[in-house]
Amino acid sequence: STPRNVPLRRALYVGTFIHCKTLQELDICENGVIGVDEHGKIAFLERDAENVDLVTAAHGWGDAHIVRTSSSQFFFPGFIDTHIHASQYPNAGIFGQSTLLDWLNTYTFPLESSLANVNTARVVYSRCISRTLSHGTTTAAYYATNHVDSTNLLADICLDAGQRAFVGRCCMDSLSPDFYKDISADAAIADTKSTIDHIKSIDPTYGLISPILTPRFAPSCTPPLLHALGQLHRSTDLPIQTHISENLGEVQLVRKLFPESTSYAQVYDMYGLLTSKMILAHAIHLSTSERDLIKERDAKISHCPASNSALTSGGAKVRWLLDSGITVGLGTDVSGGYSPSMLEAVRQASLVSRHVAMLDGDAAKLSIEEVLYLGTRGGAKVVGLEDRIGGFEVGKEWDAQLVGLALVPEAKAAQHEGALCAESFKLPSGEGPVDIFGWESWNEKVAKWVYNGDDRNTLSVWVKGRLVHQRS
Ligand code: GUN
Ligand code: FE
Repeated sequence: STPRNVPLRRALYVGTFIHCKTLQELDICENGVIGVDEHGKIAFLERDAENVDLVTAAHGWGDAHIVRTSSSQFFFPGFIDTHIHASQYPNAGIFGQSTLLDWLNTYTFPLESSLANVNTARVVYSRCISRTLSHGTTTAAYYATNHVDSTNLLADICLDAGQRAFVGRCCMDSLSPDFYKDISADAAIADTKSTIDHIKSIDPTYGLISPILTPRFAPSCTPPLLHALGQLHRSTDLPIQTHISENLGEVQLVRKLFPESTSYAQVYDMYGLLTSKMILAHAIHLSTSERDLIKERDAKISHCPASNSALTSGGAKVRWLLDSGITVGLGTDVSGGYSPSMLEAVRQASLVSRHVAMLDGDAAKLSIEEVLYLGTRGGAKVVGLEDRIGGFEVGKEWDAQLVGLALVPEAKAAQHEGALCAESFKLPSGEGPVDIFGWESWNEKVAKWVYNGDDRNTLSVWVKGRLVHQRS
């Protein structure tokens, strides 16, 4: 990957590119040329370029660096993970038989508290970022911990690695263990401001890294803390992330802790937190009136299907949310979610929607196009960056991955039966009635990627035009 201090060269991305046009439709362009300028922005995009030399000459880009796809490769927008706890990365896959509230006490708080040590944090955060980049995550909304130094370090490491990120210092002054708890609302706000100041000092325009206000969830925040975070949101206009209605026990607890409020969503609304800049993770057990309130406030939802299955939290009714016009993206929710891979989140969104469909009817099923939209364009809207990322259009930034579906040379592929990940291959010309040579459509190749792919298929990753990962 390219270090941050090396200036970018103009680059041409030549060949097949695929991105999400609408929720229902992929835009597939086989003979494309995308010109990315020295600021990492898409300067032009040609759909039917017969001759690349003519295109470069027409734009005066003869000196540009060229990256070409081969026949089984395509450029795809980078994934946007709208909810991930970087601090819980070492626990990915460890949750036993627990559900949310005992999972927090058994696994999560002890691990997060250990990140008070910045050396521990450095190891955890470095690995989390290089791993998520290798899976094609170009933007992530991160929860860190309540420790300022290690949270600031997470921001530093993201900036260094070139990953676009929202970094949240986790606020929690209630119902948390003594060894891992904010001592007061005032202290939580002061620490949050320290992290905001730090990020401002390393990335003054928030061009790559932005702070995000992070009340852990209503049960771990006192009313004064929620109130102060609402004020801070109003004065800074910073985005906010939290959890909502993930688990039935949690919903009951919120009812008990906030008896004056009519619903979980209304608790956040009461404190001025339920705005268009709020990312709500999970949103499984919402009433219709809560859904309508979320829609009215234009708050966004991060659907975390792998986590919701792992912690047996429930099946989020994504179709029901989308039908009401709410903006939805996807989150890995490591380590409630067992995998840092957004491709896994995309796949699980498809499968969970099928489980919901078995109860609620076929309309609940999400298509491949829909789950990929949620993982890219939907996520861009959730984090408020839909004008800059999520798809390939002139003026957007080049946050992309090169996906390859041939693991072995094409000639050998036909004999290679035990392919472990997504693979597209040509079959020998058929002697039977149907010639199946070149049989897969691009839509089918993409479906194979979604259901069988992993990080071996992610060959290169760029953020804002900079190469941030290359498969060795
Ligand atoms: N609710 C409060 N904290 C957490 C957390 O760390 N993970 C998940 N999935 N839900 C939460
Ligand atoms: Fe979470």
